[in-house]
Amino acid sequence: MIKKFRKRHVVPYMFIAVFLLLLYIFLRQDRKADFEARCGDVWMCRLIKGLEDRIAELQGRLDSLKGSRKDVGANQQQIQEDLNKRPVNPRFGEPRAPEAGGAAESVDVVGLTLPILLMACDRKEVSKALDSLLQYNPDLRRFPIIVSQDCGHEPTAKIIAKYTNVRHIKHVNNTAIVPQKKGQNVGYYKISRHYRWALTQVFDVYNYEAVIIVEDDLEVSPDFFEYFLATYPLLKDDPTLFCVSAWNDNGKSNFIDLNQPEMLYRTDFFPGLGWMLTKSTFKQLQPKWPAAYWDDWVREPGQMGQGAKSCIRPEISRTSTFGKKGVSNGQFFNEHLKFINHATTDVHFTQLDLSYLFKNNFDSFMDYRLNSVPVISLRDLKNRITKENEVKVIYKNNKEFQSHAKAVGIMSDLKSGIPRTAYRGVVTFVYMGIRVYFVPAKPWAGYQA
Ligand code: UD1
Ligand code: MN
Repeated sequence: MIKKFRKRHVVPYMFIAVFLLLLYIFLRQDRKADFEARCGDVWMCRLIKGLEDRIAELQGRLDSLKGSRKDVGANQQQIQEDLNKRPVNPRFGEPRAPEAGGAAESVDVVGLTLPILLMACDRKEVSKALDSLLQYNPDLRRFPIIVSQDCGHEPTAKIIAKYTNVRHIKHVNNTAIVPQKKGQNVGYYKISRHYRWALTQVFDVYNYEAVIIVEDDLEVSPDFFEYFLATYPLLKDDPTLFCVSAWNDNGKSNFIDLNQPEMLYRTDFFPGLGWMLTKSTFKQLQPKWPAAYWDDWVREPGQMGQGAKSCIRPEISRTSTFGKKGVSNGQFFNEHLKFINHATTDVHFTQLDLSYLFKNNFDSFMDYRLNSVPVISLRDLKNRITKENEVKVIYKNNKEFQSHAKAVGIMSDLKSGIPRTAYRGVVTFVYMGIRVYFVPAKPWAGYQA
């Protein structure tokens, strides 16, 4: 019976044993071994493999979708942050609506090259001025730097020569200078002669459309370049604009609104100290360029027409000067200039609607503003007897302007009858947290030298 059983059952048992053995070998294969190799041509394995691939692919897509959703979120957050950062200008206009276009788009600035002309002589700290310009220069092709050196001072020339990414030109004119009046500083004659020569190079030799002029004792703000780029269309389009300047003559920290780094004004007083000039304006100045005191000459009626032409100036200066020792004596520096700091802000001026600075707009804004601001006396201002946060104080003439100015501590000097920062006679500044306007009494007959 046993024999019978053996004979009858040995074959299936052998099959089972072989199957189990094969299964054992199969399962013992290294899990990391290639699935395809283990699987061979078995259709079931191929099916599983195909499904696995598909799952992996779908998982990949899901991950990338999750990633891009994160990106969109981050982008949206960035856009919102940028929008929030765009300063709302409560006094003169609103940020430019993205689709509306603005001043910056009325003239094409895309292909514009705006060179920087740095006037140098024998100041070794020219490297400080250059480092500052290079630090914030977004593109040297767009804002190429030309250093024009007067004075033939070799140690300074060597320092400039180290900057291989700027153009170094040298003014050589050894003709003796005889001042027109006794006691005049020859330095002012040399500066004026150098200015005429350097500007002639920029416009007649290199043929640029406009230039930003700085001196070897100036440092600039992070938004210095964008400021000039954004205001260029105004300068080009508004025939009543003579220049754009980076300087606020009353820019000491206690006289400015630090919460309004985007705020710009028009002024009838030429500020200089980092300013933009167009070729067409230079062409009018070139034939009559003065022998000395070029900046005060620009302020004369023959050039700026005592209010006929104005400049744009910022609430917070975009330049500061470290030039204590210079052609003029250091007193002005110690008492005044050294307290004017350049803004450390990075305002995106090209994203702002600057059309409020066109003459008609700005004049209307000013009239509207000043009509709604209450008048108080200088005494009440000084004693802060007011609850207003904007006030105007009237002055009758230059003399009274000067005594008002001295009483509060702003610049009291006038050039060609124009107070520093004045626009249509109005001088505005912050005093003990109050926005103040010194306003000439009506009817105003214009600036009187
Ligand atoms: C002041 C003005 C300056 C103006 C000058 C001319 C201020 C703070 N500065 O000069 O903007 O240009 O009056 O009226 O208001 N330089 C030469 N050749 C010289 C000497 C100087 O080219 O022989 C250059 C300097 O390198 C500098 C510029 O002229 O770039 C002004 O010289 P500086 O010594 O700084 O005189 P300031 O008294 O500041
Ligand atoms: Mn100087």
